[in-house]
Amino acid sequence: MEIMDAMVVPQSDALFAVGGAAPASDAQWAALRLDAIVLMEAGRALTLPERSQGADWDASSLGMSAAAAQAVAAIDAQDVDGALAAGNALIEHCTGCHHQYLTP
Ligand code: HEC
Repeated sequence: MEIMDAMVVPQSDALFAVGGAAPASDAQWAALRLDAIVLMEAGRALTLPERSQGADWDASSLGMSAAAAQAVAAIDAQDVDGALAAGNALIEHCTGCHHQYLTP
């Protein structure tokens, strides 16, 4: 699904990478903030009628948006632990949706 490749995977990778190397400048925090914003909107975009596959799908998608919003707040505070916590919350929704809707 292109929305994963375009708006979810690179952005969540950037957030998860904070664990290995925290942003070291205001510019890097600003770039990470935009990634979190894209993730937030991607969650909403997944709930559009042409994409939604049901109530659980929407719950995972909106959960993804909420975790991304949590990341934005942490990024605004340049809070590395908070950004990692948001990343951990985010993964729950990735795996939750994949578990149910990704057919192997
Ligand atoms: C609301 C459901 C949903 C959520 C939330 C979700 N995914 Fe997906 N994801 C899918 C589906 C469905 C596919 C299979 C797409 C296809 O058939 O091509 C997929 C595929 C993928 C793939 C395989 C590559 C591809 O393009 O098919 C990756 C990697 C991926 N998701 C990563 C993530 C990550 C990381 C997150 C969380 C940050 C996430 N996904 C959140 C539904 C979701």
